[in-house]
Amino acid sequence: MNLLDGKRVLLGVSGGIAAYKSAELVRLLRAAGALVRVVMTPAASGFVTARTFQALSGEVVRCDWSDDRTGMDHIELARWAERILVAPASADTLACLAHGRADTLLAAICLASEAPLLVAPAMNQAMWRHAATRDNLACLQRRGVQVCGPDTGEQACGEVGPGRMQAPEMLLQALSDSFASGRLAGLKLVITAGPTREAVDPVRFLGNRSSGKMGYAVARAARDAGARVELVSGPVALAAPEGVERVLVESGQEMLDAVLARITACDIFIAAAAVADYRPVAPAAQKIKKQAGEWTLQLEPAPDILATVAALENRPWCVGFAAETEQLELHARKKRMHKGVEMIAANLVGDGLGFDTDDNELLLVWEGGERHLARAPKSRLAVQLVEQIADLYSHSMTTDETPADDAKHSA
Ligand code: PMT
Repeated sequence: MNLLDGKRVLLGVSGGIAAYKSAELVRLLRAAGALVRVVMTPAASGFVTARTFQALSGEVVRCDWSDDRTGMDHIELARWAERILVAPASADTLACLAHGRADTLLAAICLASEAPLLVAPAMNQAMWRHAATRDNLACLQRRGVQVCGPDTGEQACGEVGPGRMQAPEMLLQALSDSFASGRLAGLKLVITAGPTREAVDPVRFLGNRSSGKMGYAVARAARDAGARVELVSGPVALAAPEGVERVLVESGQEMLDAVLARITACDIFIAAAAVADYRPVAPAAQKIKKQAGEWTLQLEPAPDILATVAALENRPWCVGFAAETEQLELHARKKRMHKGVEMIAANLVGDGLGFDTDDNELLLVWEGGERHLARAPKSRLAVQLVEQIADLYSHSMTTDETPADDAKHSA
């Protein structure tokens, strides 16, 4: 699904060494079918020439008020744009935008436009950390401006820290996400699904009966609700859902590594996978030969992916599943507190439900609430689950309560 095809994007380029990366962004946007017009600040033209952007966008590039030929160009451009992205957004440009100034053509267009505004800050790490910049950013975010990045790393000035402009591919994705519609539009979800396999030796493993059907159905429902979905899947016989980025893993450790590699900027994490609680202490390097008598396999606890994500400092909103054979609600509530997550979707296994079945039945529990989703195909349950998650997530964004607070209330 190409959300950028035919969309009108105004790219604002302000002064900074990262301006050269914006040339690549224009190329990527054009390749995705977007119509791109570029407006530079006078400071930006000290880093990249207007001719570069003109060649790549195929449109006249404006830098200065003197380029506003009719005196109304800035209004026409402000109305033309469906999205404005300022990349790089220097500390000075962020200050201009926060204070509603109109002294550059770019700032005037941003002020005159009703289009959603995205900014990709790029500056020296000390400038980024300065209280003035933090205040300007907070002010812009309160007004609904989307801030993309910055990344952390080595800077052009030789210092190391936050302040590198996000990569053009990430900015392309952010623009694309901003055109998504639906309850989860603009959000990034990471979802686990399927079983894990813990190696005993090169040919044997400890696994379970999860088919991945539940997790894949949730991934499709979240995609249909407008989310960008990254699916971390154990070995299953299912095709990757269209429009969902899938990575295949085997062991719980591999699943944890794949999840952690994707968790930055993740808004909601849903753990539908059936992950091993224990794994062999020392998987054999060669096939274990049959011997007479008993054989003992020593196990150790495997990493808990859900609990690890829930304990991260900048954690997403977390949903776990619970597969139980008895006392569903009791175990679900205990598991929610124990793992420190916002919601548990609990299912009883057996009687054609749970593992490797087309149908399921879910009990959703969260702080102060619960909802029973009656027996139905997993695809239908996934849509209901995603709607409930969207409700609670959007509510949580208007309050400050965290699962840690829940635990305090219940203690
Ligand atoms: O794949 P299907 O055949 O469609 O079956 C669906 C399902 C029954 C597997 C699914 O609905 C489900 O219940 N998944 C969770 C199964 C499970 O292992 O539950 P648990 O109670 O052991 O784990 C609780 C939660 O912690 C789960 O979100 C699990 O993903 C997570 N966990 C568990 C262990 C571990 N080491 N790491 C984890 O992240």
